[in-house]
Amino acid sequence: MVASIDSLSYHKPALLEEVLTILEPRSNNNFVDATLGDGGHALAILNSTLPNGRLLGLDADDQGVLRASERLKKYRGRVCLKNYNFNKLEQAVSESQISPISGILFDLGISSWQLDSADKGFSFKDKSLDMRFHSQQVTTALQLVNNLEYKELSSLIYKYGEDPNANRISRAIIKARPILTAKHLTEIVQMAVPRRGRKINPATKTFQSLRIAVNNEMENLEYTLSSLMSFLTKGTKIVVIAYHSLEDRIVKNFMKTESTDCLCPTTVLVCQCNHTKRIELINKKIIKPSEEEIEGNPRVRSARLRACVVL
Ligand SMILES: C[S@@+](CC[C@H](N)C(=O)[O-])C[C@H]1O[C@@H](n2cnc3c(N)ncnc32)[C@H](O)[C@@H]1O
Repeated sequence: MVASIDSLSYHKPALLEEVLTILEPRSNNNFVDATLGDGGHALAILNSTLPNGRLLGLDADDQGVLRASERLKKYRGRVCLKNYNFNKLEQAVSESQISPISGILFDLGISSWQLDSADKGFSFKDKSLDMRFHSQQVTTALQLVNNLEYKELSSLIYKYGEDPNANRISRAIIKARPILTAKHLTEIVQMAVPRRGRKINPATKTFQSLRIAVNNEMENLEYTLSSLMSFLTKGTKIVVIAYHSLEDRIVKNFMKTESTDCLCPTTVLVCQCNHTKRIELINKKIIKPSEEEIEGNPRVRSARLRACVVL
């Protein structure tokens, strides 16, 4: 059961106008929202695809899917919601029998309610240190923080947080063990790396790195993007909104590779790879939120949108 949610507490969908301009949802078109969240993008799409357009929505978070299904209940019959990680997208599409698909949206990262929920462990003052999207995933942030050896912890924070202070932070974490809450972890990182006038909390990158590791975010994104070409058909649009440089790099590389004919090094005069492009970029430059959107929703400030269409 999900308590009724005041519409003010729903996650505000990022770059909504831009997403709709690219996807151009029309009457009876079908779409996939691979990261349903609170269903804000999904709701806008469903309103534009009346009377029979269908939407397949996925979210790795079990509670998230319940929230979205409550919000989208008036579209029952047109929506198919699954508590799946998007690494099972092909399976979900085949099970839902939604076809043809006009567009797929990936709005990566986490929803506001996940960030604000005290028992998820995603934010600095939380009482837990969990960070799993789904309660049945095996590894929690608590386990990583308390069990990894110095080198493993330090390279995790460096790799997924791109934090130059990774060594110093890891030493402080190991010295302070056991660490039981996000709040305690935040204090330890803040002591190890003083803020010194920075606007961003010094623990931001440590939290990002743990969340990415706990949920295998980079592997899932890379795998899923690379699988799309095997089941999408001509004309399907792919829109991805990324929130940090690591995930945006994966999206950029995927779109660059798939929109390029020959991938041979420039020194090779006659193509050996026989690679042909399978997508066309829709926007050559990344689309960022306007000042106005950032003012109304500061959490969206790092959003970067890339889009393409299958050839
Ligand atoms: C930024 S929110 C999406 C918000 C949504 N567009 C809206 O308008 O409310 C990202 C969502 O993606 C989900 N998510 C992140 N990685 C996922 C994955 N690999 N598979 C499925 N869902 C994922 C998160 O649980 C979260 O609910």
